[in-house]
Order: sequence, then structure tokens, then C-alpha cells
Amino acid sequence: MLRFYTAGESHGQALLAFLSGLPAGLPIDLEFINRELHRRQLGYGRGGRQKIEKDRADIFAGVRHGQSIGAPIALRIENRDWANWETILAVEAYPEDDSTAKKLVAPRPGHADLAGSQKFNFHDARYILERASARETAARVAAGALAKTLLRALGTEIASHTIQVGHTRIDRAPTWDEIQTISNDLESPLRCVDPAVQDKMKAEVMSVQAVKGVEIGAGILAAGSLGSEVQDEIFYDNATHRFSRSSNRAGGLEGGITNGEDVVVRGYLKPISTLRRALKTANMVTKEPVQAAYERSDWCVVPAGAVAAEAMVALVLADAFLQKFGGDSLQELRRNFEGYARQIHDF
Ligand SMILES: Cc1cc2nc3c(=O)[nH]c(=O)nc-3n(C[C@H](O)[C@H](O)[C@H](O)COP(=O)(O)O)c2cc1C
Repeated sequence: MLRFYTAGESHGQALLAFLSGLPAGLPIDLEFINRELHRRQLGYGRGGRQKIEKDRADIFAGVRHGQSIGAPIALRIENRDWANWETILAVEAYPEDDSTAKKLVAPRPGHADLAGSQKFNFHDARYILERASARETAARVAAGALAKTLLRALGTEIASHTIQVGHTRIDRAPTWDEIQTISNDLESPLRCVDPAVQDKMKAEVMSVQAVKGVEIGAGILAAGSLGSEVQDEIFYDNATHRFSRSSNRAGGLEGGITNGEDVVVRGYLKPISTLRRALKTANMVTKEPVQAAYERSDWCVVPAGAVAAEAMVALVLADAFLQKFGGDSLQELRRNFEGYARQIHDF
């Protein structure tokens, strides 16, 4: 139902996001989208790039007079760094001598450099890393902000917080209010609800990451536990006419169906692959052993990764919402949703 595409190289002119399937009549606030983009740029561990960029989205299509009109939405986020790359990454062919090329032939272990170069058949990882770079998540965050807007109009909020960096971990489950407050705190460096744990997290060694695991609720821990330790017992509250669970180890999902509890998604990030203490690699052209290349880089992406993860959760939930309730306008969608909510209430 909801489909999105992104386009744009990390150091190209701009990042583009296209979103189709959003119903008509949804109020769109450009400042909210820009606040989300700002959140992605903040936080401890970001590299020099964030000092150059000041991400803001321009909407080119699909929104008129402050609301969605049911047509595909096109957004553009300018790359300020393009000014430094116009010649290096020109759209036109290289000049005769390719001295302007910023080739990368010593692929970084753990990055997409080598696998991507082999797949697309370039003996230079430049084009690969331009697209694998997490700068692309800015476009996702913009599209995700639109999905969040839809979910918010129907009563669903999304927030994130940091549980662990390196070996330092918060050992209690914060309340939803704590999570929502820290998630929106623009001053918090790592968005961890416990300031003392957060200070220890900052002291951890280099730990930038890309998501290598996703878990719903108790997730992986549940696999090694007894059923009686894992399942959430069911109760009925006559006052609110609601079934509820004694715990939420299922993370709000049973049999692929949301059960009315909070949906809890945890993403695990691997350490970053661009290392100043370079690892061994092989030159893609000469095949000689060399040290991996260094590119300007973040050193911890937990806070930014969390904002990108929120955007992806918003897009997936909004898509599921539209699949279930359908409708071409917000009014139609709301009618369908409210009819179903009545069915659940009267069950
Ligand atoms: C928000 C964010 C920022 C990132 N910044 C960097 C970076 O500056 N340098 C780097 O080497 N990797 C960075 N990464 C990780 C790479 O994008 C990722 O490792 C690479 O694309 C290979 O994909 P994989 O790790 O999923 O296999 C970042 C990831 C995220 C989510």
C-alpha cells in the first residue's frame, strides 16, 4: 500500500524520497519533517559531515495547501557538501586524465566496498560507498516522518531510546513516558533515560554500527527460556472493556497481529567498519595486501541509527495500517478504523 523509494549519492547534489499510497486529506507539517531530520543529525559520535549539513526537506509534489492530496509525494534534501564534490562526482564523463577521481581501491572490511564493487563491476568502491553510506537514512527519515504523521492522526506514537553502547547497558525497563521524553530531547547525546549510564556509554570505545539483528519483545532471550517464563498471561478489565497482558514479552505482536500492548522493536548495531587503525585488506586492482582505506566517518551511530529505525518502524506500521483499513482519504481510513475499534470493544 505504502511504497517508498530513495535516490541520491552521499556526496551528490541531493537526496530524494518518493512516497506513494498516503491517503488524501492528511495535514502535513513541513516543520515536523525538518525536526525529524534535525534529530537524525544530533547525538554523540557523529563525524565532521554533520557540521557541514543542515538537513531540511523541500516538498515538490503530493502536498498542497498543507495537506496530502492522495498523489505520490516527492521530497528533496540538499547536500551542502556537494559544493566540495561537484568535480569529483560530476554527472559528466571524467576528463581525459582522471586526476579528479577519488578512487577507493582498498575496500574496508565490514563495509559494502568489495561486495558492491564485484556486484556492479567497478574496480573502485567510490560509487558503492556513495550509495551504501547511511546518509541515505536522511531520505528514509523524511519519508518516515510522513508515515509517523499518518499514525499519529490515528493515535499511534513512535519513540526510541538507547539500551546499550559497547559493554554498558541500562538494567531497567523505562516507562513509555520516559522513553517518549528522552526520544524527543534534542539535548540528550545518546537518548538513554539514565544520565549516569549514559555518561558511561559515552566513555565506551569506538562503536558505530549497522543493524545486524532485530528483535521483537523478549526476542532471542525467549528462545532459551521455558514457555511459562515467556508467554504473557491474559486478563480482562471490565471497566475499560479491554483484554490486557500481565507482561509484554511478546513485544505487542502475537501471530503477526498487534495485540494492543506497546509494539517493542530492538535493533542491534554492529561496530562501524571505517577504522583509523585500519584492518588488512586486498587492493582491488593489484590484488596486493594493503591497509583498508579511511573515509571521513562517524564513530558512534546509535542515536542517529535509532531515528532511522523509528522511520522504518513508522513506514512498516503505516503500511500495515493501510493494508488493513484502506481508504483514499483520511476520513475514509478513520471511518474504517473506528468501525474495527468498535468491533474489538464489543467483542
Ligand atoms: C546512522 C548511521 C550512520 C553510519 N555512519 C557510518 C560512517 O560514518 N562510517 C561507516 O563506515 N559506516 C557507517 N555506518 C554503517 C554503514 O552504513 C554500514 O556498515 C555499511 O553500509 C555496510 O552495511 P552492513 O553493515 O549493514 O553490512 C552508519 C550506519 C548508520 C545507521
